[in-house]
Amino acid sequence: MRSLCGFRLSRFGDPNTTCGHPLVAPKLDVVQTLNAGDVFVPGGMPEHTYNPREKHGLEKKLRDAKKTARKIVSVTGMTKSGKTVLVARLFPRDSCVWFDGGAFTNEAEFWIDLVDQLGAFTSFSLSDGNERSVETAAEARAQGGLFGWLASLALRLGIRRSRTTGISVSRQSSPKAIALRTLRKRKVPLVLDDFHYLPRDDQKRILRALKQLIFEGVPIVAISIPHRKYDALKAERELTGRVTQVPVPAWDPEELVEIASKGFPLLNVETSDNLVSNLVGQALGSPHLMQEFCLALCRKHNVEETAQERLSISGNEPLRPLFQSVAEETGICQHRFRKYLIGCHQAA
Ligand SMILES: Nc1ncnc2c1ncn2[C@@H]1O[C@H](COP(=O)(O)OP(=O)(O)OP(=O)(O)O)[C@@H](O)[C@H]1O
Ligand SMILES: [Mg+2]
Repeated sequence: MRSLCGFRLSRFGDPNTTCGHPLVAPKLDVVQTLNAGDVFVPGGMPEHTYNPREKHGLEKKLRDAKKTARKIVSVTGMTKSGKTVLVARLFPRDSCVWFDGGAFTNEAEFWIDLVDQLGAFTSFSLSDGNERSVETAAEARAQGGLFGWLASLALRLGIRRSRTTGISVSRQSSPKAIALRTLRKRKVPLVLDDFHYLPRDDQKRILRALKQLIFEGVPIVAISIPHRKYDALKAERELTGRVTQVPVPAWDPEELVEIASKGFPLLNVETSDNLVSNLVGQALGSPHLMQEFCLALCRKHNVEETAQERLSISGNEPLRPLFQSVAEETGICQHRFRKYLIGCHQAA
């Protein structure tokens, strides 16, 4: 007897992953020699130069929100102020469903991405190619096992088994239904990063669908820039009183200094206070620019990794070309940089 049981699941994602990400433990840094690009990480997660900004209690607010749940957490702040980095510290990407709004254009893509990250399935089919036959529920029960189950299901659905083709049953669900059901079941935190990139009506429909999950305690964090802050969340009246605001303020000079004072010693580089304050002065309250400047300074002095011998960088060296090259390379705040370069602020 041929024993062939087909089991097929159509889906998005890999079952050997969590939330679509490989199950790989975070790499711990155990070596003394570090790459400059791993110490100063403009545009990435700065492990070595991360500043928790304790005086603002941002991590605590997020931690509390995570524990209490039942409210959507709205993290807002100017672009490049550290919103994504902050949320990723508390909600690591490999332990939650992380939606990158900038990479998708509409609601349909949102649900498909969620199904993909959850490793769930939108269609399900089972088949049995055995040459067996049943006509009644009693016969199906007598067969037992998967075949018996399939046969009784087929009979219930009014499907008559053909002697040559075997039994096949299938079910199809919408990505939205599957994503919601899976999130509800697993209570996996959901982070909506740059949610404002989606069209406003799509945001509304998504929030309406997620509302029930919030009530049921699935942690949900929405990250957006300030003037969009009410777009999605205020639009949905029923969310009133269900939103915890976590505003991420602009960085003050002391907080930016901490990036330099953590990072340069790790590379065996000594910098003067004057030099660091010049970098801070041009960073416009942005940790991203501060990271850029520190990395550019390392590159300028050929510090690709922790120096064998201590290197001192003087506070008198001209920094203007460095600021200019960072502005050109990154395209960040070019208009503001231009203002600097024409003399609103004199770079050292
Ligand atoms: N807490 C921090 N400590 C040190 N550096 C940081 C911190 N937060 C952010 N940075 C630096 O700033 C960069 C930008 O941060 P992030 O991507 O979190 O900003 P954002 O507010 O999410 O920006 P966007 O609005 O463009 O999404 C990071 O890649 C990192 O280099
Ligand atoms: Mg971001």
